[in-house]
Amino acid sequence: MGKIADWVEERVHYRELVHSQFTGYMVPANLNVWYSMGSVLLMLIGIQFATGILLLTHYIPQTSHAFNSVMDLSEKIPFGWLIRRIHAIAANLFVLVLMLHMLSVLIMGSYKKPRELQWISGVVLFGLGLFACLSGYLLPWSQLSYWATTVATNSAGSVPIIGDDMVRWLRGGDRVDQTTLGRFYALHVSVLPPLFTFIVAAHLFLMRRVGISAPPGIPKEQVKKVPFFPHFVLEDMRASYFFLAVLFVGVFFVPQISFPPDAMEPADPLFTPPHIKPEWYFLANYQLLKVVPNEFLGIGLQGLGGALLLLLPFLDRGQERRPLKRPLFLAVVVASLAGFIGLTVWGHLS
Ligand code: HEM
Repeated sequence: MGKIADWVEERVHYRELVHSQFTGYMVPANLNVWYSMGSVLLMLIGIQFATGILLLTHYIPQTSHAFNSVMDLSEKIPFGWLIRRIHAIAANLFVLVLMLHMLSVLIMGSYKKPRELQWISGVVLFGLGLFACLSGYLLPWSQLSYWATTVATNSAGSVPIIGDDMVRWLRGGDRVDQTTLGRFYALHVSVLPPLFTFIVAAHLFLMRRVGISAPPGIPKEQVKKVPFFPHFVLEDMRASYFFLAVLFVGVFFVPQISFPPDAMEPADPLFTPPHIKPEWYFLANYQLLKVVPNEFLGIGLQGLGGALLLLLPFLDRGQERRPLKRPLFLAVVVASLAGFIGLTVWGHLS
């Protein structure tokens, strides 16, 4: 092995690269567990790509065959059930970890100068992540996926003036049908994955160029540093194993999170099941549209929230990052989080 490594080194000079990027790359010694959420997201993306490719080997993107193709996969193909469960449950975990990553960046103020571009690329990744979930949800063509997609795409109709056109554009017609399945399939398997890869690469490139922030509190000059490898990599692995364990608890013990009874019935456009709702991460938006008396106000509030989030580093320009020294900002974050959780629970129960 040593001889092969020397042979490659003589030609490619990779050792200098490994040193500059891993063993010689110094990061703050006091990075906390929140800094590992980015690596957990990378692991989950890897899992989604690998299981997604395996699912593709059997999936048929036609309304007449889609449901049977995924049922065959779950019931007849060896380990097909496992691959399908992992893909579905890891998607939920991905959204959850995206939210945790975003929340920690908000609380530690690491979106501030010089990390504005990293924040913006993150907000775009968040949007793409939700869109990947929305588009994937329809593919099994079950009662659940058909009606949840109908409800979720209907929400776009609340946008004034262009709302109806947006619904038609999303669905490729007036109803969710073969055209919708075709475009969601194309987006899910051939547009979103490369887009994701590209923007994640940009996000990581920015992280390396700008450097990881130190947790707020200790002045920059006094922060002790440790090599990225092995110190930080081991921390990241610990967090990744924890989330892997959570994933497999879901896969083996509570698969009904992703596969309730309506997911086991083929789509029937003529029969609306009672209590149909979008996935948990869209429930707060859905509930907000239901409770705000004016649809325009409901959608306006959401648009404003999204715009504020995107432009946050340019609106909050103070250099202070310690959360307790930013009480107003902290209060807004806690209130928004409580609002999100409250609306989600309300949406679930109503
Ligand atoms: C596919 C999704 C994402 C991946 C794979 C990813 C990956 C990473 C990684 C590996 C880091 C460095 C270590 C860390 O702080 O965790 C990082 C940092 C960062 N991410 Fe993300 N991220 C994603 C989504 C997001 C989102 C949704 C946001 C916010 C809207 C965001 C904003 C940031 C910021 C501002 C940093 C710098 C943190 C610092 O230096 O302290 N990222 N990301």
